[in-house]
Parts: sequence; C-alpha cells; structure tokens
Amino acid sequence: MKKQAYNFLKLQAERDKASKQQRGELTQLFPSESDIPEKFRLNSNLDQQRVLIDGQIIPWKGALAEVFSPIYINNGGSLDRKRIGSYPAMTRQAALKALDSARWAFSSGNGTWPSFPLSRRIESIEKFLERLENQKENILRTLLWEIAKPYHELEDEFERTRQYIEQVIKVACQKEEDSLLLKKEKGILGLIHDEPYGIALCLGPYNYPLFETFSLVLPALLAGNVVIIKPPKFGVLFFDFLLEAFQDCFPPGAVNIISGDGKKIIEPLMKSGEVDVLAFIGSAETANRLISLYPRKNRLHSLLGLGAKNAAIVLPDADLDVVVSESVLGALAFNGQRCAALKIFFVHKEIEATFRKRLLDAVSKINLGMPWMERVRITPIVDPERLPYLHELVREALNKGARIGNKNGGRSLESIFVPAVLYQVNSKMRIYWEEQFGPIIPIVSYHDIKEPVTYISNSPFGQQLSIFGTKTKALIELIDLVKNQVSRVNINTKCQRGPDLFPFTGKKDSAHGDFSILNILNYFSSQAVVAARETELSQALFQSLQPPKNLDINQGS
Ligand code: G3H
Repeated sequence: MKKQAYNFLKLQAERDKASKQQRGELTQLFPSESDIPEKFRLNSNLDQQRVLIDGQIIPWKGALAEVFSPIYINNGGSLDRKRIGSYPAMTRQAALKALDSARWAFSSGNGTWPSFPLSRRIESIEKFLERLENQKENILRTLLWEIAKPYHELEDEFERTRQYIEQVIKVACQKEEDSLLLKKEKGILGLIHDEPYGIALCLGPYNYPLFETFSLVLPALLAGNVVIIKPPKFGVLFFDFLLEAFQDCFPPGAVNIISGDGKKIIEPLMKSGEVDVLAFIGSAETANRLISLYPRKNRLHSLLGLGAKNAAIVLPDADLDVVVSESVLGALAFNGQRCAALKIFFVHKEIEATFRKRLLDAVSKINLGMPWMERVRITPIVDPERLPYLHELVREALNKGARIGNKNGGRSLESIFVPAVLYQVNSKMRIYWEEQFGPIIPIVSYHDIKEPVTYISNSPFGQQLSIFGTKTKALIELIDLVKNQVSRVNINTKCQRGPDLFPFTGKKDSAHGDFSILNILNYFSSQAVVAARETELSQALFQSLQPPKNLDINQGS
C-alpha cells in the first residue's frame, strides 16, 4: 500500500514537472515588447472615437468597447494580454440614426447613389480601392494584432479582396451590357435590367474581417444599394483607417458604419423591417435569430454563409503524400478557424495507422508562434474565450475512448492551443458532430464506406467534402453517392472557397446564396422589366430610355 502511494506521488511529481516544462515552452512563444519586430509594432493604441454616419465623421462621446489582442506580452514570464485600442460601443439610437441616414440616401431608389449610372459607381469604388491600397500597411498591422493571422496570409487576404472587387466590376459591366439589349417575345418589347433592393446590412466574420466583409459591402454598393456595415467583433479597429475614404468616395448616407454589441445595434435594425438585404457570414444560430426578428419575412432578401463541418474521406488507395500535405493545410491553416476547414477525417482502416503516423510527423514540424514569424502556422486563437470549448471537446472524446496522438496535443496556454490529432473518434463523441473551428484533427477509422457516406447524409451541414483516392472508378462511385449532399466535392485537395470565380455556397444549414464573383451581384439586385407592345411609340420610348445596342437581337419571334 505504501509503495503504491509512493508510486502515485512520484508519477504525480513527474507529471507536474512535465506540465511546468510545457508551460514554460509555451510561455516562450509569446514575445516581450522588445521581441516584436519594428514593422509590426503598434506605436500607440488605436482608440477610435469617431463614427461615420450620414456622410459625416463625427466624434463619438458615448461608451467605448475595449479591444485586447489575442497576443499576450511576456513580461519576464508573466503573460499579459495586450490592450490595443477601443471603438464606439454604439447605442440603439445611434444605430437607428444610421438606418435613417441609409433610408434617406436610398430614397426609394431615387437617392444620389442608386441614381448614379454604373460607370459613376465604378469610378467611386475604384477610387475607394486606391484609398484602401494607401492604407494597406496600417490595415494589415492592425489586423495582425486584432486576429493574429499570419502576416503573409493577411497580405494574401488584402490582394484577394482587390482582385475580387475588380472582377466583380467586370461582371457588373457585362450584366449592364446585356441589359442594353432590347428583348422581343410574342410582340412584346422588354428591357430587362437590374435594380438594387435598398438597404443592405453587411456583417462579415472575424476570420476574414477584410475580405469577407468587403466582398459583401462593395458588390452591394456596386449594385446600387446603400449599406450599413457592422464589422465583426474582432477586426473592427482597422476600419478607422478607412472612414475618410468612405466619406470621400461615396455620397452621404450610402455607407454607414456601426459598431458595438450586436444585440443593441443589429436587433433594432432587423426589427424595423427596413433592412432589405441581410448579408451575413457567421453562425446559423445568429442568422436565425436575426431573421426571426424581421417583421415582414417575405420582404427580406438574405445572403448567408453559415457553419460547416467539412469531412475528408481517405480511400484505401489514396496517395498519402498528397493526403498529408492537404490535411495539414485543410485542417490547420489559420488554426482551423475557417468555415471551409477540414473538420473530420474518415480514413480507411487499412491505412489509418500509416496515415496517422505520417500526419503526426507533419504536425510535429509545424511552427507555432506569433503572426509575424515566417512560415508560422499556429498562432494565438482569435477569441481566447473559445479555448474552454476546445478543451471540452477533447476531454469528452478522451473520456469516451479517443486518444491524442501527438506530444502536447490539446495543451494550451492563454490563447495558444497546440493542435491535437485525435484518433479512435466515433459517433458518440461531440467532436464527431460539432464544428470545432479550431486546431483539432479528429480521425475516424472506417471499414465500410457507408459510414462516411451516412455521416455526410445525416450531417446538418452541406458545404464541401474532400475525397482522397487514386482509382477513378471508386472516386466516381463515391462522388455520385455524395454530390447531392454538399456544394463542392474536392478530389485530392482540401476544401476551400477559392478560386473565387467558382460557386461558393452550401447545402442544408451551411449557406443560403452564392458568394462567387459571377453570382454575388444577383443577391444584391433584382431583375426588373420595362415592357410594352411593339408600336412606333414604344420603339421610340425604348430608344430614349436606354439606347439598345442592336434592335435586331431578340430572344424570340
Ligand atoms: O471561412 C470561410 C472560408 O474558409 C473562406 O475561404 O477557403 O479561402 O479559407 P478559404
């Protein structure tokens, strides 16, 4: 008995020592102030005390919301979360003022912005893109502190935003050109053109505060809508660098920015019934709550990017070199904080052990650290308050028989969470079903392809899927089984939104609408027709309404 107690104490002491050592190792990942390279230092806090409403940048005298970075500062071993600024915690009244301003700016489609011809709107947006470019360094440095995304990925996000908008402009021009063609069908002449809906409320997510917010806002504007932007909870401070650009490039009221607690400022807007388009990327729960508040449901147009639990199915003949490199990127890019991340792996039991060994090897080589470090993959989690949830998912799975394959996997310190490769996962565990949105890689070993196929069919999500295999026949059979359940099947590649010309949508609870360059404008405008019987008068009218390019081109007889 004594010996047992001694062994237990010894084991406990060894564990304590190991965990102290691990804590020490993780502490070292956080920088002291002097470790931060000059280029990325915040020389002062970003206390934003002004708001853009009704074309005016006015001082904000009300309450401010404090912003702390997910990056902690190592002060001789003690870690302090860095305060980086604050922004207006706007009130219901202020939000309703933004709504008034938007309503006035749209004026039933007769306001300045919706009345501008497309060419003039493009001019404004291009001017805005130039101003955005001028602020690139400030924006990226601020975002680095707000969301701790690796700097090179922020640079890509910036470039992607510019390219996306430039291409949407081309699509708008093409649509405009098509609308100039007078259509004739059964003796009726018609000009079919796009009209904006009115007020678009745009809410982007914190994992892509720039790209995914601006790829809603700028197409909405391009289509002639006026917008109210609510930046995400993380990724709001950088907007301060753009207030003058918004003010200078767009007429008063066309762009309004509100910030603060969503409950206080978004809910009254939805309850007013005056928002025409809800463009939202975030959780289904929030989207449902917002839509439920809207009084005239059939009048609300929505474009929604929601949750996903994209699976990878690894067939027995898969090329493991490809699977492993795509899995690491697919599951761990930006700490797995991507809606399109690979969030569960079904691996055929014949190769599961080999796959796991190679994946563990690859994961052990991943760099953890701060977002300014080169080749860093794992950085602080944007919202450290989510860490208890990640731990709970891992703990629950371990209690039900799962194992962690990698040393330190699932350990955390403040905002850093060491990726956990979790195997022996099964359907009784929450991690099997829930969207972790973090660096946990759950592996399920299957022997019958029915298991992953049933999983995909039963899942409430339906965004994408990755299949890894080398035999054409088996791939085709599997694609046929699942293609109706998801919006994109990736073969031997990870799931992802891009290229942005491809449809980006989802089935079931994953999305409503398509965010691609080719289709996004359709969610911010509706087709309208001016039609008349073919008479001399109507011919003359159409000529002056919108000089058709070619009267002979028609769609019927
Ligand atoms: O969070 C949403 C998507 O993951 C964005 O696209 O595939 O380029 O990360 P991505």
